[in-house]
Amino acid sequence: METNILRINEESIMTAAELLKKNEIVAVPTETVYGLAGNGLSPSAVKKIFEAKGRPNDNPLILHISSTDWLYRYAREVPELALKLADRFWAGPLTMILPKKDTVPYETSGGLDTVAFRMPDNKWTLKLIDACGFPLAAPSANLSGLPSPTRAGYVYNDLKGKIPLIIDGGICKCGVESTVVAFKDNGVKILRPGGVTPEMLSEICDVEIDRAVIDGISDNEKAQSPGMKYKHYSPSADVYLIECRNRARLEEFINNNYDSKTYALVRETKNIKAKTLPYGKNAKTEANELFSSLRKADELGASKIYVEAPGKEGMGLAVYNRLIRAAAFKVIKL
Ligand code: TXA
Ligand code: MG
Repeated sequence: METNILRINEESIMTAAELLKKNEIVAVPTETVYGLAGNGLSPSAVKKIFEAKGRPNDNPLILHISSTDWLYRYAREVPELALKLADRFWAGPLTMILPKKDTVPYETSGGLDTVAFRMPDNKWTLKLIDACGFPLAAPSANLSGLPSPTRAGYVYNDLKGKIPLIIDGGICKCGVESTVVAFKDNGVKILRPGGVTPEMLSEICDVEIDRAVIDGISDNEKAQSPGMKYKHYSPSADVYLIECRNRARLEEFINNNYDSKTYALVRETKNIKAKTLPYGKNAKTEANELFSSLRKADELGASKIYVEAPGKEGMGLAVYNRLIRAAAFKVIKL
């Protein structure tokens, strides 16, 4: 199949809507990362998404909706708190897990009785959802296991020949995926940290952070969010996360342990002898560059990547969560 890339505008959105209505799948931009969208109410469309990504079929998809009212169409119960959070953070990078109605097929929910909802902050993608009239199931538009795509070109690298259309909306402004929460007692439990930070959620309700966010899950443990148990975000190079608050020690370590195929992602590149790739100066800008730099490292034939770990506060928690998985939990503490 030929994969077309069209710039985002009224016309390309209508082309995408036509394809989606015919049960085809299309890659679309959101503010976090590109999504691989299909009709979330159609088992056959959802099956195409899993096939194109090579995704394990027990890993559930997020339903992207264009209006909070849609929650009542597809969720069996909508807690007061969900409405409050939607009001404060939608459209935006927050995904909420609710009990599903029968109209949502088990193919979409990965066999679970719950389903995830999010309203993406991209006016064109919201228009697309409206034009379709059904929610779009959309996981990140990468091959399963690779870093999520923050540009249309990365989607093309992964999915060319497998999908008919990629809508190019430029670079995703957030750069890491949405925060995924489940409801409990008077608050929420964060299953995956993302663009809406624990601190932001704490202004509204109690917040617990699932242990798997930082620690990972052993093979025989049951994950509350199935996505947590799979290998993730990994380039082919070996990634090492370096936890170090002492600048001189960080420089010394990298400068004594690099070769021509080593790349470093560090906040300050001065005095670093290994090759470096773009990385932010704070957690927010690190989130913007992270997946893109991991992909670039692969393109450049990197065999080893050192990444300076962010603190675990604010956006740092989301960046840390992605990095520790990219590093397959290899951490160097200096
Ligand atoms: O920002 C995002 O969320 C992007 C854009 C495209 O919207 N989407 C995304 O989807 O990251 P995906 O499929 O790559 O990640 C969804 C995560 C997975 O870890 C999945 O296990 C979890 O959400 N999830 C989805 N439905 C769930 C459910 N019913 N219960 C628990 N976890 C769920
Ligand atoms: Mg993903």
